[in-house]
Amino acid sequence: MALIAPSLLASDFLNLGKASTLLNESQADWFHLDVMDGVFVPNISFGLPVVEAFRKATDKPLDVHLMITQPERYIKDFKAAGADILTVHYEASTHLHRSLQAIKDEGMQAGVALNPHTPVSLLRDVINDVDLVCMMSVNPGFGGQKFIEHTYQKVKELKALITSAQANTKIEIDGGVNATNAPKLIAAGADVLVAGSFVFRSKDPIETIAQLKNA
Ligand code: DX5
Ligand code: ZN
Repeated sequence: MALIAPSLLASDFLNLGKASTLLNESQADWFHLDVMDGVFVPNISFGLPVVEAFRKATDKPLDVHLMITQPERYIKDFKAAGADILTVHYEASTHLHRSLQAIKDEGMQAGVALNPHTPVSLLRDVINDVDLVCMMSVNPGFGGQKFIEHTYQKVKELKALITSAQANTKIEIDGGVNATNAPKLIAAGADVLVAGSFVFRSKDPIETIAQLKNA
């Protein structure tokens, strides 16, 4: 049974309070918050004040996905805003090892996100320092994109890397997740499923989350 982390990017921004109530009442395990800077990705979403607001609205872990350049500049700020898991992009982090340590020193779980073109093997020398790998199954920047089928292969490779390193790393899948690909992702080794559009564009998001939870 995977952990489910609905992405608030697909929620109605005029009703974030409703969205958090809904997630609190659902089987969602984490809140997935997508922070975009318009530089690392071609889109701007929301930042620290929104994370802070969700912190006041839930006791569930806040899974913050930073799609920003030089994410190390903001590690302390996101801790102060209430993040529990902080994920930086491999492609945005020149000194990834240092950033992971800095995240853990703040008492958060440290995540690394991989773009679809970034090979899993590049994580070999840090995998034991990583709590979560966020495997992008779309190009980051937007919700509602089509799932990239090659992801299954990468999940299997990542699972093998984690097993051979005897690491404790969770595999999270982010982008285009739905009830059709969820069971296949779990079979390939996924531990956490992020879902934005599939949850918030559905008729009954609580039921959709339950469906993913039971996938
Ligand atoms: C994309 C974000 C995702 C996005 C997923 O850059 O990282 O978390 O919200 O949305 P869906 O599930 O609609 O692909
Ligand atoms: Zn995300």
